[in-house]
This record gives sequence, C-alpha cells and structure tokens, in this order.
Amino acid sequence: MHTDKSLRPLINELNVDLLELSGGSYEAPAMQGEARDGRTLAREAYFVEFARDIRAVAKMPVMVTGGIRRRPVAEQVAKSGVDMVGIGTALAIAPNLPRDWRLGKDNAPELLPITWKNKPLTSLANMAAVKFQLRKLSLGKAPDPKVATASADSATGC
Ligand SMILES: Cc1cc2nc3c(=O)[nH]c(=O)nc-3n(C[C@H](O)[C@H](O)[C@H](O)COP(=O)(O)O)c2cc1C
Repeated sequence: MHTDKSLRPLINELNVDLLELSGGSYEAPAMQGEARDGRTLAREAYFVEFARDIRAVAKMPVMVTGGIRRRPVAEQVAKSGVDMVGIGTALAIAPNLPRDWRLGKDNAPELLPITWKNKPLTSLANMAAVKFQLRKLSLGKAPDPKVATASADSATGC
C-alpha cells in the first residue's frame, strides 16, 4: 500500500471518527508477531512506522494496534505521533493493565508462545487463546494466560 500524498484525498473522504491500523491475514499474520524487521519498537508495535506515514496525511485521529504489551512500547507509540494506542491481547489477559501502568507497575502480559511452523495454524491458535481469556472474563473468572492450546480451542475450556 502506498503511503504517499496520493492517499490524502482517499483517506480524508472516509466518514470515520478514528482510523485504526493493524493488519495481517491468516496467511501472513503480521498482527500476531511477524514484524518487518528486528528493531524493538517495530517488533512489538508492528504498525507504528506505517501509522506515522498515515498520520502525516490523515485528518482523523489514528490508532495503532498490534503487539503492544509493555508500558515503554505503549509510551513510545504514543510519543511517535499516533493519537491512540490499541491493546487487544494484553488487555484480554490483564484487563486492569492501564490502571496497573498508571500505578507504576511494569507488567507485560503475554500468552504462552506458540512456535508451530504452520503460520496460519499458529495465528488461529493464538486467536483461540485470546478468545479463551475473553470467555473467562465474560464469566467473571480470572484469565489464564498459560492455557494450553488444546484447552483454548475447546468451547468448554473454561
Ligand atoms: C479473537 C480475535 C479476533 C479478532 N478479530 C478481528 C477482526 O474481526 N477484524 C480485525 O481487523 N482484526 C481482528 N483481530 C485482530 C486484532 O484487532 C488485532 O489486530 C490483533 O489482535 C493484534 O493486536 P494485539 O497484539 O493488541 O492483540 C482479532 C484478534 C483476535 C485475538
């Protein structure tokens, strides 16, 4: 996707209040850990560079989501010029994360890493593990980030 000024009219014609940048697909799951390079910020906040380019042309606020789970990374993303920091997985594991960070804690919630060679399956397993946490929260139960992939995939896992 081009991020030059030719995008300006296209983006700004959209009748939206907020532009959230995340991405990837089941075949190329950038949203779940496949960053373009090895630098820390890019590795942990996959879309921050792209967001910076979009921010330069977009009139509406821009949010960047993907891989953010540590306070210094969230702060760096905020300082990079994007308007809002999106956190999905980390909040599913630790719903009080923003409060914890405000209180000075440096917790960085993460799921057990899944290191399968098959990327689409890995991505689906990660999503199942996040859904498992959300299901637990909806039942008033504590999240379980160490859940085994097989249990997370089961509808009766919690
Ligand atoms: C269970 C689950 C469902 C998701 N559904 C969608 C979706 O429908 N559309 C979408 O654009 N992204 C979807 N995502 C991707 C998230 O919006 C986000 O890009 C991704 O989780 C990376 O952010 P995170 O590391 O903060 O979780 C989903 C992610 C999870 C875990």
